[in-house]
Amino acid sequence: MLRTHTCGELRIADINKEVVLSGWVQRIRDKGGLIWIDLRDRYGITQLLLEEGRSDVQLIKQVRELGREFVVQAKGKVIERVSKNPKLATGDIEIDLQQLNVLNASKIPPFTIEDETDGGEELRMKYRYLDLRRNPLKNSLMLRHRLSLETRKYLDSQQFIEIETPYLIKSTPEGARDFVVPSRMNQGEFYALPQSPQTFKQLLMVAGFDRYYQLVKCFRDEDLRADRQPEFTQIDCEMAFVEQEDILNTFEGMIKYLFKEVKGVELPDLPRMSYADAMKRYGSDKPDIRFGMEFVELNDVAQGKGFKVFDEAELVVGINATGCAAYTRKQLDKLTEFVKRPQVGAKGLVYVKYKEDGSFKSSVDKFFTQEMLKSWAEKFHAKAGDLLLVLSGEAEKVRIQLNELRLEMGERLGLRNPDNYKALWVVDFPLLEWDEESGRYHAMHHPFTSPKPEDADMLETDPGKVRANAYDIVINGVEIGGGSIRIHDRDLQRRMFRALGFTEERAQEQFGFLMNAFEYGAPPHGGIALGFDRLAAMFAGKDSIRDFIAFPKNNAGRDVMIDSPSHISNVQLDELGLKVVDKIPGE
Ligand code: AMO
Repeated sequence: MLRTHTCGELRIADINKEVVLSGWVQRIRDKGGLIWIDLRDRYGITQLLLEEGRSDVQLIKQVRELGREFVVQAKGKVIERVSKNPKLATGDIEIDLQQLNVLNASKIPPFTIEDETDGGEELRMKYRYLDLRRNPLKNSLMLRHRLSLETRKYLDSQQFIEIETPYLIKSTPEGARDFVVPSRMNQGEFYALPQSPQTFKQLLMVAGFDRYYQLVKCFRDEDLRADRQPEFTQIDCEMAFVEQEDILNTFEGMIKYLFKEVKGVELPDLPRMSYADAMKRYGSDKPDIRFGMEFVELNDVAQGKGFKVFDEAELVVGINATGCAAYTRKQLDKLTEFVKRPQVGAKGLVYVKYKEDGSFKSSVDKFFTQEMLKSWAEKFHAKAGDLLLVLSGEAEKVRIQLNELRLEMGERLGLRNPDNYKALWVVDFPLLEWDEESGRYHAMHHPFTSPKPEDADMLETDPGKVRANAYDIVINGVEIGGGSIRIHDRDLQRRMFRALGFTEERAQEQFGFLMNAFEYGAPPHGGIALGFDRLAAMFAGKDSIRDFIAFPKNNAGRDVMIDSPSHISNVQLDELGLKVVDKIPGE
């Protein structure tokens, strides 16, 4: 071993020990007579000391030639520090340096390897291995490791076994776009990388494995956002001989266990909310319930008073921004601009200030009397000093717009503290959703999700009304996971495919393997998958999952470090039976 101890290990009790440490030179401070070196490894920082007049002259010369990020081996004696650093675990001691081996030199890093760095996003992505030396990223990956370990412990304790499923599978038209891989041995044919191991885990249930899990990479060719990567990891699980209730209890148990073990937070029982309720009260199927500000519908008090915008709207709905009546013209204009942004898409914003003197001032004073506005305020349970913000339009759209405004106001009012964890189950999702573009129903979750038995009769008559045995787990407004009880009956699966507009032949071609398996004794089963990167980010109170993945893609889906995706040679294209191009760009 090139060391006796790590750089995070030595304490006052180690004084007088002769030790060998190895690590990277974080910083050198040369104050004339005294030289300090901060030596860093994964475990921490230890200070090395040299003193002119006492330390070896050659050694001092050698140290003065070191640069940042040189890899060195340091031998010396542990001594008590004169001025201690309480911020550092090793801050009571330092090493009186006696010998130094340069194990490797380093070029000057393109940005400083400190907690607060001067490097821009793109540069840090390019030199990700240097960025990963910094504490914030290092800690993110350590947290991720801890979470995966505890996840495995919990699932193992519940008799789940981890089974790997293939990465080279078959492209299916449902869900997001697939990443595809050309086959050399079967020219003209393609594998697809799995968007999830969904069908395989169901087959494992048919195989009798009963309780399966896998921390597994999934691949989806979709537009990227802070909480989406083209390759990401799921805690993917499936159980046989269970009902929805059993799955909710098992995974509520897991989430509570993880919060307790990894964060020391005791989560209370998770409330449950139907999808319909979530949409009506929060305009979102992943409501952030850290704060109230619930939607209040105003059709009965706001319509029929001559204000055309409201009269023509399907829904007039608002929120109460408590204590915001003093908002200035400028602040209100900003909010109006916010809702009119194309990403939100509202036509305008109506406000009502409930002034401290009990009177009302609104942007629609021309149409509504003080009495009328008072009746609005009562619906909101508003008090003097509050500000009502109202949108109107097509019900489904306006709810989604108001959700954006609610989240924005929650943010402005400091109601979305990342250390305050509020989790819930959203249940009773619709089975199908209408897709304008293709002019047919799509599975809201996936085509193997079962309808609620009491709604199944409507599959043929009123498919849009059928509710599913599907559920999501939502924490602080983020969809952390989702799952469902599956269809295990071949006939029901056939009806489902029919409702999705599949012909018998196409269903057979795409999913025949699953439907056939269901003829050999498929047990009732169901499962869930949790977004592991999202969970890790959530545990650190962060919105972006990127820093919880060692080597992520940038917003354009590129890995700028290895420069991928990249062109391949004509030789490779030819081998794969793909069209050879005249000139490879860049060659
Ligand atoms: P679903 O598609 O809901 O379900 O995915 C489960 C969870 O995975 C996470 N997730 C993502 N995380 C990062 N980047 C992405 N691009 C991304 N897409 C999804 C989310 C999501 O809740 N097979 C089903 C599960 C089941 O029915 O058992 C499935 O994949 O946190």
